[in-house]
Amino acid sequence: MDKFVIKGGRRLSGEVTISGAKNAVVAILPAVILSDEPCIIENVPDISDVRIGLKILREIGAEVTNMGNYTYKIDPTKICRFCVPYESAKKMRASYYFLGALLGKYNRARVSMPGGCPLGARPIDQHLKAFSLLGADYNLSQGMIDLKAEQLTGNQIFFDVVTVGATMNAMLAGVKAKGLTVIENAAKEPHIVDLANFLNSMGANIMGAGTDVIKIRGVEHLHGTDYSVVPDQIEAGTFMIAAAATKGDVTLKNVIPKHLESITKKLEKIGVNVEEFDDSVRVWVEQGAPLVKVNVKTSPHPGFPTDMQPQIATLLTLADGTSIITESIWDKRFGYVDELRRMGADITVNGSVALIEGTGKLNGAPVKACDLRAGAALIIAGLAANGVTEIEDIFHIERGYDSMEVKLRQIGADIEKVSEPEELQTALERNNIPENAEAV
Ligand code: EPU
Repeated sequence: MDKFVIKGGRRLSGEVTISGAKNAVVAILPAVILSDEPCIIENVPDISDVRIGLKILREIGAEVTNMGNYTYKIDPTKICRFCVPYESAKKMRASYYFLGALLGKYNRARVSMPGGCPLGARPIDQHLKAFSLLGADYNLSQGMIDLKAEQLTGNQIFFDVVTVGATMNAMLAGVKAKGLTVIENAAKEPHIVDLANFLNSMGANIMGAGTDVIKIRGVEHLHGTDYSVVPDQIEAGTFMIAAAATKGDVTLKNVIPKHLESITKKLEKIGVNVEEFDDSVRVWVEQGAPLVKVNVKTSPHPGFPTDMQPQIATLLTLADGTSIITESIWDKRFGYVDELRRMGADITVNGSVALIEGTGKLNGAPVKACDLRAGAALIIAGLAANGVTEIEDIFHIERGYDSMEVKLRQIGADIEKVSEPEELQTALERNNIPENAEAV
């Protein structure tokens, strides 16, 4: 089991390059299935969710070639299986995009049901509603979702909630459906626009992505393309907050400043400086300037992203005053709070609201990441804390951040990834021996 060991208290400064977006690439990889020719995908982040997506593509018969420099060639022309089994699907929730892509191309798909997750219930009723409205029958049994259609036909799809996943899946299934598909109350996140841009670059006819009404005119064939994945808004936001929490001065390269607006606005209210350039942003805190409280409510794009909530909460533990955070997307996104308390944070959670009493400082401690963004928040806490922080279960972090510790070291952090031999760990757990016990 790997862990991060961070010696806190170092001011971050310098330049860091942001990778391609996890939440775009996990849909773009399955979307390649829809093409009748090979595609080249650039700016693919080196994260475990990508490795799982590529493995699933290989398992169903696609030919995947790593061309180096974060670029993959994917040839979908020999796909011969339409099933994603539990063993692969359980490792990546976004495997549900294989449903829309396989259905859209072959009129059938069989994918293991995505289970619950640390963020709370994650229903897929809206995905199934979209598939049904496009003409597919679905059957749920033995943990699998089976989809079949004679022919997919465009329809009007109104989502009861704003959902990223179901909007993406409706686009994947609708892109080759006969006639016009209209998606209403669609999600507007940058990754929705990126998937639409990718599909359009293959010859699809999708209009309105980025607004709440998306119109898709079905086409018969999609051709190969060479496409570069959009920069990761959440990775960028995480580094912005790491810079702020260490009162540093960091320039992020390969970003789209417009995508960071809701994060930038909150940071400015807290007392952090943000300067935007064409494809970079500089984030810094003036020497001696205080960080001050702010209230944050998460909401779908262009609101403040839920995927940045744990990170900004961590920053607010270092600010003066009482901040209120309201989480409106996920029931269980305060799982990191107990860990931050171990580091000295004063946070009270009541349902979907957290009250943060800024104490101005955190102390290093052993902590555990309970999900991806919780893990990112603990890294930020460790960087700002006095003393040493050890973060366990970093596999959560590696699902979505490419070389986090390497990038942080480039801007001055003292962070190491440490591997603990499996046998030693089991022996320690079996005998309940504290890891720092002295040999006698
Ligand atoms: N919802 C339903 N029914 C559905 C689908 C969603 O009720 O059929 C509800 C959910 O329970 C939730 C809300 O709608 O309350 C929004 O869910 P959404 O479908 O937008 O979430 P998702 O597509 O499963 C993606 C990201 C998440 C991110 C959310 C919200 C990917 C792979 N995941 O999840 O990212 O939090 O959108 O922006 O794109 C992360 O990266 O850390 C992460 C969890």
